[in-house]
Amino acid sequence: MASRALTTVPRAQFAKASSSAPSPKPSARGPLARLASVAAAAPSSVAFFAGSLAAAVVLASTPAQAADLALGAQIFNGNCAACHQGGRNAVIAEKTLDKAALEQYLDGGFNVQAIIYQVENGKGAMPAWSDRLSEEEIQAVAEYVYKQAAEAAWKY
Ligand code: HEC
Repeated sequence: MASRALTTVPRAQFAKASSSAPSPKPSARGPLARLASVAAAAPSSVAFFAGSLAAAVVLASTPAQAADLALGAQIFNGNCAACHQGGRNAVIAEKTLDKAALEQYLDGGFNVQAIIYQVENGKGAMPAWSDRLSEEEIQAVAEYVYKQAAEAAWKY
């Protein structure tokens, strides 16, 4: 979108170009949708600005949307359950994924960022995952672990 808007185009063509600019993802609603309609209706420079703003909002909101618990559960079962079946710890028994254990042993305390850090970097006998899982997958599995612990939902 940016490269198209930055290219110098004759006025008549520009109007055409901006009205056919790609709209934000269908899942984006509310403020985003309003921004997009402003972008579509407004004169060229405003359209470019509002369009960029809409794109920035889409980018900025990505981490929050990454709270994909289904993906997190899938990543957990495929990669973590070997040692953490049901939230336990097969290697160091007391270092479970229960809230109390995370509060006691996890560097940085009981929060999603601290879980992400340990998953990315590993610790002791736990391997690092940053070269094996994507950022999105690590975020998803960390949120899954956090939620399971917060809700005492692990099933031993
Ligand atoms: C090879 C076995 C193994 C695998 C696979 C593994 N871990 Fe671990 N995990 C450990 C060990 C061992 C510890 C304790 C590390 C320490 O403190 O020395 C641990 C600790 C943790 C902790 C902190 C728990 C506590 O009480 O200190 C979290 C959170 C965690 N792992 C998440 C994960 C996630 C998420 C995955 C999958 C991406 C994963 N682990 C995969 C072995 C493993």
